[in-house]
Amino acid sequence: MPCECCKITNDQFGKDTADADLKEYRRKGPAKYTQLILAAVRSLGLKDASLLDVGGGVGAIYHELLADTATRATHVDASSAYLAAAREETKRRGNAERVEFVHADFTDAAETLAPADVVTLDRVVCCYPDFQSLLKAAAGRSRGALAMSYPRDNWLSRSIVKIMDLFLRLMRDPFRVFVHPVAQMDALAEGMQRVSLDRLFVWEVALYQRV
Ligand SMILES: C[S@@+](CC[C@H](N)C(=O)[O-])C[C@H]1O[C@@H](n2cnc3c(N)ncnc32)[C@H](O)[C@@H]1O
Repeated sequence: MPCECCKITNDQFGKDTADADLKEYRRKGPAKYTQLILAAVRSLGLKDASLLDVGGGVGAIYHELLADTATRATHVDASSAYLAAAREETKRRGNAERVEFVHADFTDAAETLAPADVVTLDRVVCCYPDFQSLLKAAAGRSRGALAMSYPRDNWLSRSIVKIMDLFLRLMRDPFRVFVHPVAQMDALAEGMQRVSLDRLFVWEVALYQRV
């Protein structure tokens, strides 16, 4: 893990967080924003697709999509604890042969990964300062579609993030959360156009398709 921010991310999403998230997923299923990503991807009507899930956490997106949309998935994550939890759930569901796990900063590893029909980033850009490199790399690995969730670019999200930032600084925690400008993120999906946009109170989910 060469980049300092991904070392911080690896520490932030440790075993306790991963175990708690996996327990929550098993109990309640995918979270609301994840459900919107799933609905957006399913709206494309794909079958036998390949999926690249960047920062997939416990792997909710491909645990669900392997049932009806994708035949295989690659999960790239900066957190080794999330990867371990995702691998455990993948095995439990009998999908061990269909998922590849990569522990890396996606911006470093992207070139080494095979392109996929669908690339997903569920609440990932908000953990990464250099959203330009992250999204360029994600669009570059997508043969067909890119779906992502991120905090809405408005005063409410910015205020919440400012309060979180203050708290993290007081705790001397180096982890940071970012609200990136949506117009700039849009422009980074090169060769793609946004085909849907869904909103929750804090989160927004965008689906892009290659033109
Ligand atoms: C807030 S968690 C979201 C996890 C999951 N997608 C979800 O919505 O529950 C952010 C995830 O992005 C990963 N992440 C952040 N920056 C990354 C990067 N540059 N490369 C790979 N993974 C990254 C973190 O390790 C973590 O798994």
